[in-house]
Amino acid sequence: MPLHTHKTNPKDILFNPIYSLANDKNSLPRHKIPRTSLDPRSAAQLIADELLLDGQAKLNLATFVTTWMEPEASKLLADCANKNMIDKDEYPQTAELESRCVNIISDLWHAPESGTAVGCSTTGSSEAAMLAGLALLFKWRAERAKKNLDTTKPNLVMGINVQVCWEKFCRYFDVEPRYVPMETGKRILTPERLPGYIDERTIGVVAIMGSTQDGAYEPVEAIAEALDDIMLKTGNDVKIHVDGASGGFFAPFVQPEIKWDFRVERVVSINASGHKYGLVYPGVGWVLWRHPENLPDELVFKVNYLGGEMPTFALNFSRPGAQVVGQYYQFIRLGYEGYAAVHQGSSAVAQYLAARIGEIGVFELITNGSDLPVFVFKLKDDITNYTVFDISESLKKYGWQLPAYTFPKNLEDTAVLRIVIRNGFNRDLADLLISHVRTEVQKLDAGTSPGNPQSSFHH
Ligand SMILES: Cc1ncc(COP(=O)(O)O)c(C=O)c1O
Repeated sequence: MPLHTHKTNPKDILFNPIYSLANDKNSLPRHKIPRTSLDPRSAAQLIADELLLDGQAKLNLATFVTTWMEPEASKLLADCANKNMIDKDEYPQTAELESRCVNIISDLWHAPESGTAVGCSTTGSSEAAMLAGLALLFKWRAERAKKNLDTTKPNLVMGINVQVCWEKFCRYFDVEPRYVPMETGKRILTPERLPGYIDERTIGVVAIMGSTQDGAYEPVEAIAEALDDIMLKTGNDVKIHVDGASGGFFAPFVQPEIKWDFRVERVVSINASGHKYGLVYPGVGWVLWRHPENLPDELVFKVNYLGGEMPTFALNFSRPGAQVVGQYYQFIRLGYEGYAAVHQGSSAVAQYLAARIGEIGVFELITNGSDLPVFVFKLKDDITNYTVFDISESLKKYGWQLPAYTFPKNLEDTAVLRIVIRNGFNRDLADLLISHVRTEVQKLDAGTSPGNPQSSFHH
């Protein structure tokens, strides 16, 4: 009989130590809903105990997603946990904060001063990418239809280093993905290779700030110039969507001089993850369009059954409002200077760590953390008795999670380790990591540590 079939007397909760309730020889059924109820303390404790087996967020160098917020922010998020972002009539102030965030972001991304930019929050960059991709698709179709041209077989051009959300967009919405492959020394989309990929059925080009594969920024301005050239030669006027999942909230503070945003005329839309360098816990992304004309009307639905008539453009209907509140908190709490201080700190730690990794002697740095605070490195070609997968595996025993993976086409033979630095990862932790990497490399060099090849690439 499972543990929860005890009929718990409410008094037990007051008088019995929690583990006397849970310390039964039976355990909960895991894959069926229990037939009876459990008292709240026991239920919460059972789950909390099981979750102890999860990794330590701070030691997870695989993820780009925020793993630490101030206690004040956490309280605000908890207080807003019951707010549904879609109920804008019921929660007008949450809706107001969302709209202020859109304005703040459009200013950060240098939207035209005429104030025409439009945008919304999403659950993350993946949803934002779907919406931006749909806008490109619908716009392309409408323009072709106006000229009585065939509207089938659209394609989207991007580097093969794109995050999986773009592959999903193409699969879900029947768009041909045209991936520009990697080549030695070219792990991102470069302008000179574009002409062979663009034609009259190209709905847009995705440029990434920065690449999930190695943290490097794609040269948006140069890509735009190449597209200007293509337009002059072929008449194909192809616009850019910038996937700024990570860089959208990083570059404005650390490399404000790089022109990648609405300063580049050809950029019609941009997405970013509030939950990455926007510094909010998972569950918020943003997508903005330069001008309402870049967001076709048919994609915006009007609903009136929540009270008021609300325009909605999203894949989900209901979704959490708390993260949007958390985003606004970070904007006013940190301000421009605060974001710059936090991100410059991460940038310094990433470049410090990259330099130390380079000094170990067995690694070759591929990037050094000077774009995003993210870098990748490989083993030198003459190291053949162990792999980066072995190193990733051996660091797990300390709690470190460093993903090891191979690059996509045409660099499948290059296997790398990636380190992502986020707010809260300081130099002391960096020094600890270095000493553990050194120890493990020495063991592998001496052949005293077993190899265990396995891929652990995380997005
Ligand atoms: C470049 C890029 N685009 C899109 C995504 C997807 O973002 P999200 O996890 O917010 O859906 C990621 C995630 O790592 C990314 O790095």
